[in-house]
Amino acid sequence: MQKMISLTTFSDEILPKFNHELVGRLRDLDTEKALKESMIYSVEAGGKRMRPLLIFVICQMFNHEIDNGVYSVAGALELIHTYSLIHDDLPAMDNDDLRRGKPTNHIVYGESMAILAGDALNTLAFEWIGRSDVVGDAQKVALMSRLAQLAGPEGMVGGQVADIEGEHQVLSLTQLKRVHKRKTGDLIEFAVYAGGILGNATTEQQAELIQYGRQFGLAFQIYDDIMDVVGTSEEMGKAVHKDNQENKNTYPGLIGLDQSYDTLRNVIDQAKVAIQNLKKTGLETGYLEELLHYFKLKN
Ligand code: IPE
Ligand code: IPE
Ligand code: MG
Ligand code: MG
Ligand code: MG
Repeated sequence: MQKMISLTTFSDEILPKFNHELVGRLRDLDTEKALKESMIYSVEAGGKRMRPLLIFVICQMFNHEIDNGVYSVAGALELIHTYSLIHDDLPAMDNDDLRRGKPTNHIVYGESMAILAGDALNTLAFEWIGRSDVVGDAQKVALMSRLAQLAGPEGMVGGQVADIEGEHQVLSLTQLKRVHKRKTGDLIEFAVYAGGILGNATTEQQAELIQYGRQFGLAFQIYDDIMDVVGTSEEMGKAVHKDNQENKNTYPGLIGLDQSYDTLRNVIDQAKVAIQNLKKTGLETGYLEELLHYFKLKN
């Protein structure tokens, strides 16, 4: 087994290349200048690239080369994630004016362009997977249909609807968990699904990857809720103390900060169980463990 470099070194090597490819592809689009600028603005604004990184890490675990095909799939996911943020920030949704440390898309380009930039990123994602000449046809069909499902009415979009509808009611913890699973967890689940498909994971490994991704996704939104309370706008690159103001159902709002941290810890522990099971299949799981350090359990 090859000696592993740290996750930071791995991501410092790969993410600049990925970002370059991502923005390069957008610059090459033959479309209206204003639309292109608006799309590039939000994609280039930054972001942790957590979802692409999950795909890269899993490909690496399976010794699958991080080639153009992997960039297409990881890029597609980042496009959809970015579109979801542009729309999430609209006045009719969460009404935010700061994202990724910059004014939100609609503040700079206006609401109509922000809506259309989101639409364009959403559709372009599927074109990128479909046109990849590296990913096999069967894999493409699996990836595109799963992405559509996880990003669509049963997944992220449905979760966003439940989040918005929830502003007028107090959800139960079970209902809130389902909102978080869908609005945030489902795109993260796609990342681990795609990594497993690209890396040719066995059925058993794929099931454990999904298990890890589901726990990671739930933890991600619980942590986002926590950071809205304890984080600063500078570190988050977006407004904080906003959820309460917008009548959002959140973990801290429903069960308090301490219990939110306890729940986060439990969810992370479940992700660790999946890691142990993956390890038993002979995989080097160090990066999956390191990725969990994103969640700071104390503040
Ligand atoms: C923000 O996602 C929205 C949530 C799902 C919580 P990220 O925290 O991944 O945002 P970026 O991509 O780093 O900006
Ligand atoms: C966002 O949840 C989920 C999606 C964009 C799909 P939030 O509304 O909590 O995300 P932030 O806090 O604005 O990043
Ligand atoms: Mg929202
Ligand atoms: Mg929001
Ligand atoms: Mg939030």
